[in-house]
Amino acid sequence: MSRGVTDSESGAQPGAVSGVPVDVPRPPSASRVRTAYITHPNQANVHGTVFGGHILRWFDEVGAMAAVRHCRQPVVTALIDAVAFEAPLRIGDFAIVRAPVTRAWTTSMELHATVHAEHPLTGEYRRVAEAFLTFVAVDDESRPQPVCPIEPETEDEQLLYEGAARRRAARLVERVRREETGEGSEPVATESDDGA
Ligand SMILES: CC(C)(COP(=O)(O)OP(=O)(O)OC[C@H]1O[C@@H](n2cnc3c(N)ncnc32)[C@H](O)[C@@H]1OP(=O)(O)O)[C@@H](O)C(=O)NCCC(=O)NCCS
Repeated sequence: MSRGVTDSESGAQPGAVSGVPVDVPRPPSASRVRTAYITHPNQANVHGTVFGGHILRWFDEVGAMAAVRHCRQPVVTALIDAVAFEAPLRIGDFAIVRAPVTRAWTTSMELHATVHAEHPLTGEYRRVAEAFLTFVAVDDESRPQPVCPIEPETEDEQLLYEGAARRRAARLVERVRREETGEGSEPVATESDDGA
């Protein structure tokens, strides 16, 4: 993976005392992370563009930083969904990754991750992928811990905040369905597994 350059524009306090009050709402800008990566040939897929797995890794890393900044606690990734690769990310382009916290509930937070491609010479700028991530704050024994709410400030943040309620409802329905049906929990042996 290429080295990321993270803006310090967020207003978050580097080295701030761990933990923030869980009853005081915080705006997405307080935990903002914007990281730029240079894309390299060793990240290429067979089409000569950046492998989707690299993009997911950036989403997870940048999302985790923003989620930790929001709650100042350790977090784990519970879910990545609605991943869309909208356009190829060409090798040589700069990749600009953002993942603001859209909303927080009792112990979980939703983030909206995007990556934009910037052509280094022309400055051409376009969105190439997005996803939603759910992080959960946890203690030393992986038990979920309370987090503070989000207070949207801009129109865009308000839209994401409102949409988050609908997306969460759909996720929880899906979670119950998965737990009830056990779908996909049984390992399926294949010929190649047998020979492995
Ligand atoms: C995420 C994890 C801590 C949740 O633990 P749990 O015992 O299921 O806890 P709960 O059922 O109380 O869920 C905790 C929160 O996560 C949310 N959550 C859990 N699974 C979810 C899912 N699939 N989709 C959306 N939200 C989910 C719950 O809605 C709840 O949110 P709320 O407190 O804001 O209402 C646990 O499943 C875990 O440790 N998973 C592995 C994480 C991991 O290893 N990630 C990869 C490396 S970081």
